[in-house]
Amino acid sequence: MTARDTNRIKIAPSILSADFARLGEEVRAIDAAGCDWIHVDVMDGHFVPNLTIGPAVVKALRPHSALTFDVHLMIDPVDPYLEAFAAAGSDIITVHAEAGRHVDRTLQRVRELGCKAGLSLNPATPESVVEYLLDRLDLILVMSVNPGFGGQSFIPSQLEKLRRLKAMIGDRPIVLEVDGGVVPGNAGAIVAAGATALVAGSAVFRNGTYAANIAALRVAAAGTDTATLS
Ligand code: DX5
Ligand code: ZN
Repeated sequence: MTARDTNRIKIAPSILSADFARLGEEVRAIDAAGCDWIHVDVMDGHFVPNLTIGPAVVKALRPHSALTFDVHLMIDPVDPYLEAFAAAGSDIITVHAEAGRHVDRTLQRVRELGCKAGLSLNPATPESVVEYLLDRLDLILVMSVNPGFGGQSFIPSQLEKLRRLKAMIGDRPIVLEVDGGVVPGNAGAIVAAGATALVAGSAVFRNGTYAANIAALRVAAAGTDTATLS
């Protein structure tokens, strides 16, 4: 795992919006364009209504970038697959609070496998689910769309959830990440609410101008203009 700058807001392009026929090349391109993490969306057609990629693809992509692989597992059950995703080269493994009955055990297992442990909350899931898990967490991922597809609109109610989670996290070294509908027009408001990492699929991969798109998100994230949420 390499870090370009440990303090700045992390920009994590979701390769869900990449050209799947050229995934290795796409990962190299977003790395060269200055992103911080590579966000990998894993979907099972059961927990979410879409199917994407498995551990073999993560393993195949691993040699293409030394950046942190931020692996978002939208699968249920998740426990049987943790070892394979860790062995494939995941740095962060994020599981869903709504998947599996024993999230505390799942998070312990992720750390035992040598990965950072993340927990994701769907838009309808209250922040209180993390209350007794904070010491097991390296990252909390707030879904600002219903998971399954790229290109959806940001759900504004998640800003209040971010503010509440930021307060619950306090001084703990837990990354607060947001995923879904993040664009330059709302990145400032999202960061102002407490986010420290931004996932962006369509906003990074649109028009082929990856470096400019990442830079636009960075400028917006650093700014104070919170007027628009589209
Ligand atoms: C949705 C995925 C997201 C998604 C983000 O289920 O977890 O990572 O690809 O895409 P955009 O940024 O286009 O909303
Ligand atoms: Zn994701």
